[in-house]
Amino acid sequence: MYRIISKNKIAEDIFKIEIKAPLIASKRKAGQFVVLRPEETSERIPLTIFDSDICKGTITVIIQAVGKTTRKIVSLEKGGYLLDVAGPLGNPTCIEKNGNVAVVAGGVGTAVAYPVAKAFREAGNKVIGIIGARTKNLVILEDEMKAITSGLFITTDDGSYGMRGFVTDALETLIRKDTVNEVLAVGPVPMMKAVCDLTKKYKIKTIVSLNPIMVDGTGMCGACRVTVGGKTKFTCVDGPEFDGHEVDFDELSRRLRGYSDMEKHYIGHKGCNLENKV
Ligand code: NAD
Ligand code: FES
Repeated sequence: MYRIISKNKIAEDIFKIEIKAPLIASKRKAGQFVVLRPEETSERIPLTIFDSDICKGTITVIIQAVGKTTRKIVSLEKGGYLLDVAGPLGNPTCIEKNGNVAVVAGGVGTAVAYPVAKAFREAGNKVIGIIGARTKNLVILEDEMKAITSGLFITTDDGSYGMRGFVTDALETLIRKDTVNEVLAVGPVPMMKAVCDLTKKYKIKTIVSLNPIMVDGTGMCGACRVTVGGKTKFTCVDGPEFDGHEVDFDELSRRLRGYSDMEKHYIGHKGCNLENKV
């Protein structure tokens, strides 16, 4: 059993949860994730490790309550317990000293981008952050991102905060003004695809963190299959990060939509039970 040390709401339906997990805290690296189950009959929920504290023996995850199991997790209070926390899973981000790195995050993807941005910064890179949300109250982790970047651009689709537009608008402005040696993009699939289309034009290396449906998280079920450079890869063991210019985003979108009718059915009748990695 894994004790919840703290829980804070950071936006509508989005929570930051700190969990006692000393072994995971001591081993995890930026880019890795855990799989949580609140109880034995629950779906497994993969979540990126947002941060860890080796002295306290804790890890922190950011979770959006979108379905039955994530709602169950966020309903647990400080002092409550999760049944299992498995990890760290997936490969750590390959962090090199590359110069100027732009970390581009869409919506809840900011929770995935933060640990990677922090690791790039610690490796001596200049990190510029771009975070985008549909509207002001969906912008998350602004202070945390500001603290680890040399500059942070915020975009909102409706212009209610920061620059009006998509993250790709801010990225193109940055590329035209400054040297960008590498881009990390994480967020909804159309956003990652749009970032990759843009950076291909400017020939800038781009890494994306993918979020297909996962089941076991250990390479056995094949649920997280994606095509990268024409080859089949399993996101949980070969990723979650890949060369964005090689990813078949159209296939990923189709596979993510595969259960949407069932999701609508569950949301309408029992609460959704099919959820993806944040
Ligand atoms: P969202 O749909 O509100 O989009 C967030 C931002 O992404 C937008 O404000 C915009 O700046 C940018 N964006 C979206 N579509 C774009 C496009 N076509 N071109 C350019 N920019 C675009 O995001 P959300 O509701 O927070 O997240 C929705 C999806 O993101 C979910 O399906 C979730 O599974 C996925 N997600 C993925 C990851 C990951 O690891 N890749 C992590 C978290 C969430
Ligand atoms: Fe089963 Fe990756 S989640 S193979």
